[in-house]
Amino acid sequence: MDKDKSIIIGSDHAAYELKEKIKTYLVDKGYSVEDAGTDSTESVNYVDYGKKVASAVSKGRYLKGVLLCGTGLGMSIVANRFLNVRAALCSDVFSAKMSRVHNDSNILVLGGRIVGDILAFELVQTWLDTGFEGGRHLERIKSIDN
Ligand code: RB5
Repeated sequence: MDKDKSIIIGSDHAAYELKEKIKTYLVDKGYSVEDAGTDSTESVNYVDYGKKVASAVSKGRYLKGVLLCGTGLGMSIVANRFLNVRAALCSDVFSAKMSRVHNDSNILVLGGRIVGDILAFELVQTWLDTGFEGGRHLERIKSIDN
């Protein structure tokens, strides 16, 4: 598997529809996408899906993941409990970009009730296209786990 072109995605019911659209967007862009669920708009606990994606990124099975819930808050709280996970809840393009440049974020979190489809695609694309600057920022992120 080409880890640079592979991504894991998950959501709860509140963002199921946006997850499906982002999945299609990513597949169209040549990504291989693992869908950790949920698979309908039936009410579920976001924690279960957040754990699946965060665990896969934490263990290095995927370099990057995308998580969605209604606001993105629950998913970001869950994901950031995992070692090596830097989950960034973003609803503007500048933050999505800077979460990569300065924070080397490895999970992008979106609120399905916050962002529209077109903005969500732009957030995902910007996040995927932007690299980590390293240098002093590498020292800073290393110090998170020290
Ligand atoms: C579900 O209603 C909602 O609580 C969930 O999607 C998320 O926003 C939690 O943070």
